Amino acid sequence: MEIRQVGVVGCGQMGGGIAQVSALAGYRVVVSEINAQLLARGMAAIAAFLDKSTARGNLTPSDKDAAMSRLQGTTDMKDFNDCDLVIEATVENLELKKKIFGELDKICPEHAVLASNTSSLSIIDMAMATSRPDRVLGMHFFNPVPVMKLLELVRTIATSDDTFAAGKSFGQSIGKTVIVTQDTPGFIVNRLLVPQLLNAIRMLETGVATREDIDAGLTLGLNHPMGPLALSDLIGLDTVLFIANSLYDEFKEAQHAPPVLLARMVTSGRLGRKTGTGFYEYGKSRNV
Ligand SMILES: NC(=O)c1ccc[n+]([C@@H]2O[C@H](COP(=O)([O-])OP(=O)(O)OC[C@H]3O[C@@H](n4cnc5c(N)ncnc54)[C@H](O)[C@@H]3O)[C@@H](O)[C@H]2O)c1
Repeated sequence: MEIRQVGVVGCGQMGGGIAQVSALAGYRVVVSEINAQLLARGMAAIAAFLDKSTARGNLTPSDKDAAMSRLQGTTDMKDFNDCDLVIEATVENLELKKKIFGELDKICPEHAVLASNTSSLSIIDMAMATSRPDRVLGMHFFNPVPVMKLLELVRTIATSDDTFAAGKSFGQSIGKTVIVTQDTPGFIVNRLLVPQLLNAIRMLETGVATREDIDAGLTLGLNHPMGPLALSDLIGLDTVLFIANSLYDEFKEAQHAPPVLLARMVTSGRLGRKTGTGFYEYGKSRNV
């Protein structure tokens, strides 16, 4: 199946990144948001990233302009009506994602493949909200999308060979290394990572060590590029909480139970980098 036009639902940190790398790879891209203000913010973040890449000499001005001209922002899901592949990258909430998949199923051409960038939720649940479960799969990108090389491709019990092949060749065409996983909570990476993030938060909560020492333990002791608390701030504490809850709901294991501190920080709007405060303080807030 040939993919010419890509749709991305949600222009937050992941959706914006997916739209950006797809446009840079030569695809026409439609990216949606829930309102004009969030769309403008998402498109501005893409433009700023591309400007920085150009200033650093990683991108020519004409490649940047060409990528921007291939990007169309919208607040109307009907604009996905000519897409061959649509990747959903909204918040980590299964009911919302099922609703979006149901809508996409009605709007998109019959041949279109529908994918979710979910970090942990069941892809088959989203697939069953459509009339085309064989054309649904998971495409789990990593943050920041333009920088991180990995793509986890999630194959459900119903994903067809053609859909799987289309997802794999699309991932490779945008420069990602594709690994394949079954449709199980957290897939490969988050199943390993999230218990570690939650343990780090529990260590901070119970006063085992300071945030700096917990993070230095893993950066200097294990050569991780970021410590678990700084990484949680990068991911977004709301997203970490959503993922922990969904792993806990499926596995019912104490290791996935979200620490109270995490829940309280999310309630108070301390979501990490995107709001300017999380385990650390950051200069600029995205005002979510
Ligand atoms: N943050 C990460 O490190 C990371 C990594 C891999 C996967 N994910 C997954 O990607 C998804 C998005 O995460 P994020 O970090 O980009 O979150 P985010 O909060 O930055 O962005 C989500 C965006 O979706 C928009 N949105 C919500 N409902 C919508 C709708 N109906 N139509 C269009 N847009 C809508 C929101 O306005 C928001 O801008 C989640 O499922 C998350 O689990 C996140």
